[in-house]
Amino acid sequence: MEHKGFTAWFTGLPCCGKTTIAEKVAEILKNKGYKVEYLDGDIVRKNLTSDLGFSKEDRDENLKRITFVAKLLTRNNVAVLATFVSPYQKRRDIIRRDIGDFVEIYVRCPVEECIKRDVKGMYKKALSGKIKNFTGVQDPYEEPKKPDLIVDTDSETLDESVEKVLDKLDELGYIEK
Ligand SMILES: Nc1ncnc2c1ncn2[C@@H]1O[C@H](COP(=O)(O)OP(=O)(O)O)[C@@H](O)[C@H]1O
Ligand SMILES: [Mg+2]
Repeated sequence: MEHKGFTAWFTGLPCCGKTTIAEKVAEILKNKGYKVEYLDGDIVRKNLTSDLGFSKEDRDENLKRITFVAKLLTRNNVAVLATFVSPYQKRRDIIRRDIGDFVEIYVRCPVEECIKRDVKGMYKKALSGKIKNFTGVQDPYEEPKKPDLIVDTDSETLDESVEKVLDKLDELGYIEK
């Protein structure tokens, strides 16, 4: 059966849990027979946008290219899972408008907890000044004003966060759970 495409956009601080949650959702949807594409910050920056850095302009350009790809996939009935810090509300609003079938998921976690997790040692580098423009340290993160869903990864288990995402996609008519 053919399903309507959508882009589930996971936004939040580095180490809040975007990748971990989206990978699990991707696996579940694939097993259910959905066409799934997963666009992740690290993968995209290695391939599509390896020429870009982390200034506000480059972050914007990065997201513009990603939006273009996500839009093509979405209109071809793919379930797109996109995991990007995407710290600016204005840009996220533009992405929503461009893609249309767009679900904004705020993966919320206090920065102190993100610093404790520091999955790739990036906070350590940022806090010691080895890298600049790091969101949560030098760069701002604008909390989503009206996300479709908030998951709180410092108080929920991974499975609880995943279930909330699947419930929301079901409620919006994009999947049948
Ligand atoms: N409820 C939760 N949801 C997602 N990740 C969690 C949760 N609780 C703890 N974690 C942990 O937080 C870390 C998040 O890392 P990652 O998914 O790479 O973050 P991001 O992609 O947002 O930078 C992982 O080590 C993960 O195991
Ligand atoms: Mg990630």
